[in-house]
Amino acid sequence: MNGVFESEEFRRLIQHTDLEKEPPEEDGSARQAYFLKEASELIREKEEKLGRRMTACVVTFGCQMNERDSEKLRGILALAGYEMTDSEDADLVLYNTCTVRENANIRVYGRLGGLSAYRKKNPEMIIGLCGCMMQEPDEIEKIRKDFRYVRLVFGTHNLHRFAELLVRVLLSDKGEQVIEVAGKDDHIVENLPAERTYLFKSGVNIMFGCNNFCTYCIVPYVRGREKSRKPEDIVREITELARDGVKEVMLLGQNVNSYGRGLLEPCSFAELLQMVEKIDGIERIRFMTSHPKDLSDDLIEAMKHSEKICRHLHLPLQSGSDRILSAMNRHYTSETYLELARKLRREMPDLSLTTDIIVGFPGETEEDFQQTLDVVRKVRYDSAFTFIYSKRSGTAAARMEDQVPDEVVHDRFDRLLKEVQKIGREETSRFEGQTLPVLVERVNREDDSLMTGRTSQNTVVHFPGDCSLIGQIVDVRLDSCKGFYYIGTMTGGNHAAG
Ligand code: SAH
Ligand code: SF4
Ligand code: F3S
Repeated sequence: MNGVFESEEFRRLIQHTDLEKEPPEEDGSARQAYFLKEASELIREKEEKLGRRMTACVVTFGCQMNERDSEKLRGILALAGYEMTDSEDADLVLYNTCTVRENANIRVYGRLGGLSAYRKKNPEMIIGLCGCMMQEPDEIEKIRKDFRYVRLVFGTHNLHRFAELLVRVLLSDKGEQVIEVAGKDDHIVENLPAERTYLFKSGVNIMFGCNNFCTYCIVPYVRGREKSRKPEDIVREITELARDGVKEVMLLGQNVNSYGRGLLEPCSFAELLQMVEKIDGIERIRFMTSHPKDLSDDLIEAMKHSEKICRHLHLPLQSGSDRILSAMNRHYTSETYLELARKLRREMPDLSLTTDIIVGFPGETEEDFQQTLDVVRKVRYDSAFTFIYSKRSGTAAARMEDQVPDEVVHDRFDRLLKEVQKIGREETSRFEGQTLPVLVERVNREDDSLMTGRTSQNTVVHFPGDCSLIGQIVDVRLDSCKGFYYIGTMTGGNHAAG
């Protein structure tokens, strides 16, 4: 695994750490640097005893927030001295879990079972679980009772203390479980290290948590209240990333349009985008996710006049029925959503629009479902993630009567999927014959004579080329549309210097 390491600041902190002294009391990066240094000594001793390198693997379930958190976990493990690997036949395996739908939880337990052969071979193997699912008390109970071999458990609010928890588990006698799941997050720790998966692109958290409480959604319960990072911290991180060769940043938050609420010095999301736009070396800016209720005209203006903000907006619809939208606590109607979509298309005709839709929310009738199909047909999304409603305990919707029978939901889901796929194919093909800038991401997985990249609209393009192009932005003619992707030809025009 070829990671790219971030945070020189943290390296400096480690150099200045003296293990003869007590760890710093304040819960911040200096304290974590202390424990990281201690972890690296423990790992070195183990490696000497074993006569080989210790390996670690982090597996991510869930969304981009979790992907970014995993990069931070890998950064800490790499600094501690582990050799990072993609194989779960490792000395330490950490699952960063998701719990947004029930099948996410089921997958984690299934995967844990799959580790038994490795555990038998390597009894000292450390298996850890972290992330959103660990914020649920019932899951913790289950792990305490039925999964004694899981040695380390921590929640979303304890990630910044991973180095300290790692030391505790490395020092604990076999069989002990180290479990730390705090109820709430009261501060944001800056300057944690991270090991990036890509050299040229990176996610950047601009905020944590969510205040929206959509009635179906567990995220506010497991990620806590919304909290924005200070714009200067975000700009500093992105400036460092750009210096490191990153060209594309994805600004991450559950609802980026409400960025800045609660900051002492107010800053809107549109203003933040303008600050990021000025950072030299950054050529593409993406963000995720936009809540339709908070998408401002200022943001549309900022996007329209920007040379760097990508022509892609993910705008979750969830449902096209006003009755269901209200029961979901979404604070918009199908008409205000459609008006917004029309405005976006008018201002940016080359914009690609994608969405999330849930079918089978409690009380959804065939008529409500038809209204969803109607909005889908009017907006004509480039692509859509479609989900079957999943009852999450603790949420308001879980207490609602009128849960829709499985067979009805599956039938609606199939019909919706067919419709979004048909429209998605048609919309994707509208770029055929155009030459567009493509950020080259990797060698094609099936044919190594092809490279794979993305246009500003996030459309995937495969084209003949070699791996020296990875990380560069080149012009590619989109020759033929193959459903949701293109086969193209590079026509030159390397934008990489910009
Ligand atoms: N904050 C983001 C989405 C986070 S979860 C937003 O508001 O857009 C990603 C998607 O999962 C949601 O948009 C929703 O479509 C889906 N989702 C969330 N909870 C769900 C549930 N209980 N059942 C089915 N889908 C769900
Ligand atoms: Fe969940 Fe709604 Fe928050 Fe998105 S905005 S994370 S769907 S509560
Ligand atoms: Fe899942 Fe947590 Fe993201 S529940 S969708 S990993 S915020």
